[in-house]
Amino acid sequence: MSNFEESLDPEDWSLSRKLAHQMVDDAVSHLSDVRERHVWQEMPDAVRDFFKSPAPMAPQPLDRVYDDLRENLFPYSMGNIHPRFWGWYMGSSNFTGALGDFIAAVDGSNLGGGNTAAAMIDIQVVDWFKELMGFPKDASGTLTSGGSMANMVALNVARNALAGVDVRAEGILGMPQPLRFYASDQVHSCHQKALEAMGHGAKSLTEVESDDRLRMSIPALEKAIAEDRAKGIKPACVIGTAGTTNTGALDDLTAIAEICRREGMWFHVDGCIGAFLRLAPGNKHLVDGIELADSIALDPHKWLHTPFEAGCVLVRDAQRHFDTFEMHGDYLQMQERGLIAGKFLADYGFELSRGFKALKIWMSLKENGVEKFGRLIDQNIGQARYLQQLVSADPRLELIAPVDLNIVCFRYANGITDEDRLRQMNTEIMLRVQESGIAAPSDTTLGGKHCLRVAINNHRTKRKDLELFLDAVLQTGAELEEEARANA
Ligand SMILES: Cc1ncc(COP(=O)(O)O)c(C=O)c1O
Repeated sequence: MSNFEESLDPEDWSLSRKLAHQMVDDAVSHLSDVRERHVWQEMPDAVRDFFKSPAPMAPQPLDRVYDDLRENLFPYSMGNIHPRFWGWYMGSSNFTGALGDFIAAVDGSNLGGGNTAAAMIDIQVVDWFKELMGFPKDASGTLTSGGSMANMVALNVARNALAGVDVRAEGILGMPQPLRFYASDQVHSCHQKALEAMGHGAKSLTEVESDDRLRMSIPALEKAIAEDRAKGIKPACVIGTAGTTNTGALDDLTAIAEICRREGMWFHVDGCIGAFLRLAPGNKHLVDGIELADSIALDPHKWLHTPFEAGCVLVRDAQRHFDTFEMHGDYLQMQERGLIAGKFLADYGFELSRGFKALKIWMSLKENGVEKFGRLIDQNIGQARYLQQLVSADPRLELIAPVDLNIVCFRYANGITDEDRLRQMNTEIMLRVQESGIAAPSDTTLGGKHCLRVAINNHRTKRKDLELFLDAVLQTGAELEEEARANA
């Protein structure tokens, strides 16, 4: 038998050191030059083919691996680090956060638990979020992969609290009454996905109609709750949205808190978009009442621009949170001392092994200070109002929804009224603008009206970027009208 033993450490650390320095140099250039590049571009076939090669059985030098990436990865990324990316709802990342991810991987700790400094940082970040949200010190929370998982954790705690049975033992079939969850018809789809996965089915989510500002109608919520009670269904939880994905609408959280208190229901806030408004001096009033929630989902990878992934859920009643997820096999028993002592972080969510997500948040919050993030949030909202003014001032454009936050929904119309034609045209405008590399808007449909959607969640955006984008929209709209005339 051979005594040969090997490891993954490089044979020559000096080469790794040199290459790592090179990678950091390249990363700095990649970010400092971002404005000069396309937002996004289509991959050539050669690049797609490159990613179809079979598993590499034999080794190759790391500098070759890196060269391949330089050629095939960076030029074809999503573009959400670019100042003119405003599609769907992304954050735009930050360099300190990227360094944090690197240092976290070098530290290597598994944040499922453990008596480690990394766990202290994880706990500290959650404590900071509790403080910033106005939650009590003895509340609990956990960092998650993102908002979908944060909401799912909260809905599980809410369900177990209101089930009327030990649902961990009995399952949902043991519940004396079916439960209902309520949210506005603008609610993010992750809630339905969560309730489906939890076994309650999509029907357990009542989508309450929204008003003319696309906020949940409070009278309609009260009516739905009363009707369900009369039918023997148990109203369990209201999900208030602080910033909807479509338009950034903000539900009346104070009114929802009062209804939940009166009805003995759980009050959950999906604050993935808007919870961090609490940091923004000019707009924090928009989320008044969030501090009254039983649980809040928030998404550092959105308005804190933490590199993906980083979500968080806070739960006011720490015991209920713990009781929902606590689980230890024989191989993982807690101790008073040693490596496994202290708070076991996996007792607050689904995942056992957890990455050191906290570090990238911790480093950039310390470096920039919380107040700067608040100013950046106000800045994005100001930019959205600026875009709204530009849209409203141009007779060729039509504003489709009120701009309450940082999302602007509008379309190129220029007197056209046929909805099918408008949809076709604005879809084509979106695609051509994306393909030109000038900007990355996305689209949505509101009240049957298809439109472009510009979600300004980007610390690099400047007002001149919005002007450039509108010029591209207007020019593309005119081109399409010209093409239609030529083909008529
Ligand atoms: C309001 C809202 N809730 C939940 C989510 C889901 O968050 P994630 O994409 O981080 O899972 C989003 C995503 O945009 C969102 O806008």
